[in-house]
Amino acid sequence: MINLKKQKFLIIGAGNMGYAVLNSLIENKISSKNILIIEKKITPKLKKLKSKHNLKIVKNVRLLKYKFVPSISLISVKPNQLNAAVDSSLEKFLSNSLIVSIVAGKKISDLKNIFTLNKGIVRAMTNTPASVNMGTTLVCFDKTIKSDQKKIVRNFLSLLGQINETKNEKVIDDFTAIFGSGPAYIFLFIETLIKIADKSGFKNSKNMVLQTFLGSLLLLLNEKDSPIHLKKSVTSKGGTTEAALKILENKNGLSTLISKAIDKAKKRSRELSKAN
Ligand SMILES: NC(=O)c1ccc[n+]([C@@H]2O[C@H](COP(=O)([O-])OP(=O)(O)OC[C@H]3O[C@@H](n4cnc5c(N)ncnc54)[C@H](OP(=O)(O)O)[C@@H]3O)[C@@H](O)[C@H]2O)c1
Repeated sequence: MINLKKQKFLIIGAGNMGYAVLNSLIENKISSKNILIIEKKITPKLKKLKSKHNLKIVKNVRLLKYKFVPSISLISVKPNQLNAAVDSSLEKFLSNSLIVSIVAGKKISDLKNIFTLNKGIVRAMTNTPASVNMGTTLVCFDKTIKSDQKKIVRNFLSLLGQINETKNEKVIDDFTAIFGSGPAYIFLFIETLIKIADKSGFKNSKNMVLQTFLGSLLLLLNEKDSPIHLKKSVTSKGGTTEAALKILENKNGLSTLISKAIDKAKKRSRELSKAN
């Protein structure tokens, strides 16, 4: 296991995702001396973290007054902000660093054109549960990345939760549609159940729905069983669950709808990758 404590981290863009990574670094006892943040806008949340941990934040690298050589640099600005964020001084600053980009739609080839002095590019995509260290992340390494560099990146990104790897960069669009947007699908399902429970007059609908989700997930994890089998075990012949599932699983039901929705999201992800 390569020790992250020996690495120097640069975070460019400490918004939702950059902040989540920063927070994980701090939670994992990475010294603030080994962290530098480049961020245009210091939100109250970031300001609080900065003063609590004595973090160094600059608006751009030209304002840095001391020597800092990043070994890993996370690029977490919005896709339309990337070109403006990278000027010749930043490019030079990053020339010896591994670059880990989570910028949606920016391919490794695009990143190589932007960071022309740099040879170590990694593209990753994650999702918002990363902010509670339960993210699902997909990583694609550029061919030039060596195995010890891969180990460092794996350790770094596993601070956010589970990591998975692919050699086929194209599947990142599918990943974005299924897992990047995935939390929104789950939240929609939860929101729908809460509304239905509210209509039935329950006073504690949200907690009841959350407990049902959490309980079902834990059951699935504990039993190490398939969802199909566990679903069957709740469904007795002629019973209430069966009546509901007949609607949810018919040809216009939930499975068809989810497939259609994700196909649309995949298409959109490809369109955005081309447009970026
Ligand atoms: N949110 C997700 O679920 C998710 C999941 C995976 C990947 N991503 C990707 O992660 C990236 C960041 O997403 P986000 O939701 O964290 O966006 P965000 O909250 O807007 O964070 C980006 C931050 O970067 C700052 N910034 C912009 N240009 C800068 C520059 N030149 N120098 C320094 N800081 C700069 C922005 O400041 P201003 O607000 O002032 O512009 C903002 O605070 C995006 O590329 C997105 O595609 C997001």
